[in-house]
Amino acid sequence: MHIVNVNKLDPGSILGKSLYTEKGDLLLAAGYKINAEMINLIHKKGFNFVFVMDELSEGIVPEDVISDSVKQIVNHQLAETFKDVQNNLAFEKFEPEHVKQALEDNRNWGSMNFMPNVRQQVNLLLEEILENHVTMFTSLPIKSESGQDYEHALDTSVVSILIALAFGYDQRELKSIGIASLVHDIGKMIFPQIKNKTQDDMTKDERMLMREHPTFSMMIIKGTDPDSFLEQTTVAHHHEHYDGSGYPQALKSEGSSPAKKSHNPVGKIFRHAEILAVANTYDNLITGYLDSNPRTPEQAISEIITGAGSLWNPYVVRNLAKVIQCYPVGAPVRIANTRSKLYVGYQALVMEANPADQSRPVVILTHNTVGARIPPKMVDLKGEQYASLELSI
Ligand SMILES: [Fe+2]
Repeated sequence: MHIVNVNKLDPGSILGKSLYTEKGDLLLAAGYKINAEMINLIHKKGFNFVFVMDELSEGIVPEDVISDSVKQIVNHQLAETFKDVQNNLAFEKFEPEHVKQALEDNRNWGSMNFMPNVRQQVNLLLEEILENHVTMFTSLPIKSESGQDYEHALDTSVVSILIALAFGYDQRELKSIGIASLVHDIGKMIFPQIKNKTQDDMTKDERMLMREHPTFSMMIIKGTDPDSFLEQTTVAHHHEHYDGSGYPQALKSEGSSPAKKSHNPVGKIFRHAEILAVANTYDNLITGYLDSNPRTPEQAISEIITGAGSLWNPYVVRNLAKVIQCYPVGAPVRIANTRSKLYVGYQALVMEANPADQSRPVVILTHNTVGARIPPKMVDLKGEQYASLELSI
């Protein structure tokens, strides 16, 4: 099967992987022959990509970082958690100081015991990552608009864990960073009317309020689980920048690698938060969440690289580039260049990733340089000393 942009989906295509609603319920099952009505539904639900089965891509089996069943459980439980926060913490006045005071005084914490569930969800994610020896994030953002909060939380959590794994973090720290990543934006959930507005659509007061959401997230986590100090600090710092230009506290980075250390200097960005900040930005870029302009993984990484040393910790950016698979199995690519100049300009599907060099996977050529369909031909680009690819999605 292979990945198809929903805008290029033809009636009659066979769905390769099931699609689920934001709450984890089945929307369309794998194997369905898609008709025009279903394409409308897929559009309406805001999916960017789907998997399609055809004889051309018969031998192509996409690699799942996290299985659909675990994704469903995590999405479903996160939906409950976010709804719980929304229902229990409604505010009448929206000044940041009023909200902080109300969160300090809140007496509803007892009924909102979601942290054990969040820990359980991260256990499931970690189990799959460690047992399957996953080291790379191989997904394109196959997400629905309505479920973007949970899907964003889940993918950010997986990317954070993979970056932390590349730094050699132990299981305790991997777990902590995974938990903080799942609930980093929980402070936004108390403002359902504001949270999905773009920066341009917000009033000045709303922007001021949203700049405090890391503090609100921290206070909500602290209120429900006072012992979660690492997670509280991570979410509180997730919008701080390396050079001190971030918010809400304008903290600076310590300036060194966030690999495991015995302590973290007070007044500097907590190293877990430097990882979460990059993972969060990566997912926002590939989904186009902030500006409705989704980037390819490669574009997102190069955009983040331009902020290395100013916005982001360069050591973290380096590990992001290591853990993101830019050309996932099943992705359509254009061969932009090869050392031998063979196949330049051809369209192909990625069949088997090459962990040693992402740009030289095994591909199946599907179209020639003028876009005409050709008999499928398997080519192992490892045979090239150099190759460059472009995602054609
Ligand atoms: Fe945030």
